[in-house]
Amino acid sequence: MLEGRFITLGVTGGIAAYKAADLASKLAGQGAAVHVIMTRSAGEFVRPLTFEALTGNTVNSDLFVSSPGLKMPHIDLSGQADLLVVAPATANILGKLAHGIADDLLTTTLLASTCPVLLCPAMNVHMYANKAVQENIVKLTEFGYHFVEPEVGRVACGHFGRGRLAGTGAIMRAITVLLQSPGDMKGLTVVVTAGGTREPIDPVRYISNHSSGKMGYALAEAASSRGARVILVSAPTALPQPPGVEPVPVETAREMHSAVMRYYPGADIVIKAAAVADYRCERQAADKIKKTGEKMTLELVRNPDILAELGAGKREGVTLVGFAAETSQLEKNAREKLSGKNLDLLVANDVTVPGAGFGSDTNIVKLFFAGGRVEALPEMDKLAVAHKILDAVMTVRKTNK
Ligand code: C5P
Repeated sequence: MLEGRFITLGVTGGIAAYKAADLASKLAGQGAAVHVIMTRSAGEFVRPLTFEALTGNTVNSDLFVSSPGLKMPHIDLSGQADLLVVAPATANILGKLAHGIADDLLTTTLLASTCPVLLCPAMNVHMYANKAVQENIVKLTEFGYHFVEPEVGRVACGHFGRGRLAGTGAIMRAITVLLQSPGDMKGLTVVVTAGGTREPIDPVRYISNHSSGKMGYALAEAASSRGARVILVSAPTALPQPPGVEPVPVETAREMHSAVMRYYPGADIVIKAAAVADYRCERQAADKIKKTGEKMTLELVRNPDILAELGAGKREGVTLVGFAAETSQLEKNAREKLSGKNLDLLVANDVTVPGAGFGSDTNIVKLFFAGGRVEALPEMDKLAVAHKILDAVMTVRKTNK
């Protein structure tokens, strides 16, 4: 997968530096040429020899000392790189990078680079929550740096919370996405909706559903890795932001409706993987509702059907994809939705089957095409399902031309 790719791996001085050895080993194992830059403090935690043994390349840490094969380390290690990864990234490196400071080999290499840069923060829970650190992350995201968020867990200093370096698997996935060459979806804008909308009852309660958002996030990640510009309109989820996509957070069906309508004019493909609440409370109570009688009634009113509205006024050249999570009569319901909403493709799954639908990491879906064709896919990882759906979308677009 990474055969022949030049990856510069920056290791900074946090205890998670030891985990970077595993990352370096996995990258080298997949065929990448891995060149490690260690900061002075990283050297306090791990010895360069560890990385040299794992990558087969000399570790660089001094701006003024060239290692064999490099004339000017900061220029070579940025210029030749297909990707720069900093793992772990301390609060210090994020602060320096956000403010353009270049006072050692890693910072000068980062500032001299033109390739994508992936930052994997890891630090004490309170340091990560610190306003200055969070502001730097926002700033760096705006500058175009990519992030793999730290995980929630126990960090080395004993505190519990967000700050632990993301797992090697998550970092490898982000690297793979960033390194995939712009593919068949280059030049296309894709709007993906994800998650289950929340319809407020009062200031503390809401009506929602079991959607985890995993399918929509996998679609966003897959489309982005194939070169598309991806706008991810998402109801609240517990998922990390897929690298490279533009996030548009929403809560209610009506907010999702206005966000989708805002981006629809520039969209080529709309994929509605969100589980949108069909009804909302007619009136949201201004104060928390107290328990009084034995029964209570909520008056619900219909939400706009976003996809049906898009289908009714479908522009030429736009591909509309809907989802149908069903518990019975899958085929009948799927066909009705496909034609009723004027869709090009409908992805249907029976959510009562283990391994399909809500919360699960896999899915078992059937693709219903506007022409009547049906394709049943076996149980697959949601990212693999996402690529199959995108393959189908691209086939539909070719046939409709
Ligand atoms: O009709 P049903 O809700 O089952 O259709 C599901 C499809 O329609 C999904 O793609 C979902 O995102 C979309 N939908 C929508 N707006 C709604 C309800 C569903 O866009 N209010």
